[in-house]
Amino acid sequence: MKCAPQLLIVYHSQTSNTERLAIAVEEGARDIVGIEVERLPASGVTAVDLKKCRILVICSPEYFGYMSGAVKELFDRTYEETREFTMGKPYAVVISAGNDGAGALSSIERIAAGYRFRKIQEPIISRGAILLSTLDRCRELGKTLAAGIDFGIY
Ligand SMILES: Cc1cc2nc3c(=O)[nH]c(=O)nc-3n(C[C@H](O)[C@H](O)[C@H](O)COP(=O)(O)O)c2cc1C
Repeated sequence: MKCAPQLLIVYHSQTSNTERLAIAVEEGARDIVGIEVERLPASGVTAVDLKKCRILVICSPEYFGYMSGAVKELFDRTYEETREFTMGKPYAVVISAGNDGAGALSSIERIAAGYRFRKIQEPIISRGAILLSTLDRCRELGKTLAAGIDFGIY
C-alpha cells in the first residue's frame, strides 16, 4: 500500500508555468531521501490527503487577481471535513502570475487563515516568464521543507 505523502504539493496550471514551479519544488524535495513527496493537481487532492500530509505546498497561477478556480475548489470541497485536523499545519505558497501575483497570494493566505495553516516559508511569486533563478528557488524551497521533515522540525 502506498504511504500518505509527507510533503504534498498541490497545483493547478493551464499553460504549464505553475506546473514547472511545482515540479521544481518536487525535485528539490526528492533530494532528501526517505521523505514521501507527492505532487498532485488540485482537482485530484482529497480531504484525506490534506489531513495526512505533514506539509502542504500550494502552487497556483493568478487568474483575475485571485487564486485559480481549481485551487479554490479544492478548499471549498475539503474545508468542512478537514478544518478540525489542519490547525497549525505547515504550508508554503508558490504563485505564477503575468505581472502581479498579490491577489492570488492574499486570497490563498485568507483561506489558509481559515484552515489555521501555519506559514513556514516566505511565498515565491514568479512574474512573467519562468526564470531559471525562480526554478532554483523552488527547488531550494522543496529541499528545505523536506529536510525540515527529516530533521523532525515539522
Ligand atoms: C484567465 C486568466 C487570467 C489571468 N489573470 C491574471 C491576473 O489577474 N494577474 C496576473 O498577473 N496575471 C494573470 N494571468 C496570467 C497568468 O497568471 C500567468 O500567465 C501564469 O503564469 C499562468 O500560469 P499557468 O501556466 O500555470 O496557468 C491570467 C491568465 C489567465 C489565463
